[in-house]
Amino acid sequence: MKIIKCDHYDDMSKKAAQVIISDMKEKKDIVLGLATGSTPIGLYKELIKANQEKQISFKDVMTFNLDEYIGISQKHPESYYQFMMRHLFNHVDIDQKNINLPNNDASSIDKHIKAYNDKMKKHPIDVQVLGIGANGHIGFNEPGTPFDNETFIVDLDEDTRIANQRFFDSLDEVPKKAITMGIKNIMRSKKIILLASGIHKAEAIKKMIEGPITTEHPASILQLHPNVEVFVDEEAGSMI
Ligand code: GLP
Repeated sequence: MKIIKCDHYDDMSKKAAQVIISDMKEKKDIVLGLATGSTPIGLYKELIKANQEKQISFKDVMTFNLDEYIGISQKHPESYYQFMMRHLFNHVDIDQKNINLPNNDASSIDKHIKAYNDKMKKHPIDVQVLGIGANGHIGFNEPGTPFDNETFIVDLDEDTRIANQRFFDSLDEVPKKAITMGIKNIMRSKKIILLASGIHKAEAIKKMIEGPITTEHPASILQLHPNVEVFVDEEAGSMI
């Protein structure tokens, strides 16, 4: 794992964006794996800026998102579909048909999940963006999830629901389930860019890098991936 210690959130966002911008310049039809959460918002702003300045184009780019809630519609403002539209896709020249997210409105979720896995096998992810949960989750692979899962339906941990409550009016409104890429999908990506910001992520980052590889800390599996770049701000990197 390559660790890039950054001064603050903006510095982290810019440095991580530089890696993706340079990969996008090199491969016009790059396949990106994308994450939601507060952490990558600054990175997406940088990608939007680079697109508007015509440094990069999304015309031939394909994207796959890590996860999506179950129990709210795609139209709900806090669905990850809406998040991605708001923070990235509405502002860049991406072709709508190249955007892939797990679809919580699919008539048959099982069929949809199989199709999602098949499509990712056909279009392997070149660069996967990841955040990390304070409990070590990546995507929504909560502690205890087997490492050999492909996209599946997960019961969200209470900790995760509490962490995400800030986006909803009450804890009751936070969905209890989600569809997430499994660790196996994530580990197949050619490169992984993981971002973490804030003191509440410091322990999760330490365990990911220095701890034993265990399903109890899902991000620890990344120690076995050959091409991971971890961008941390001063606080998130304070224990390493
Ligand atoms: C969310 C997402 C993850 C994300 C993590 C951290 O619930 N499912 O993909 O990395 O939790 O979120 P944040 O960046 O807001 O701290």
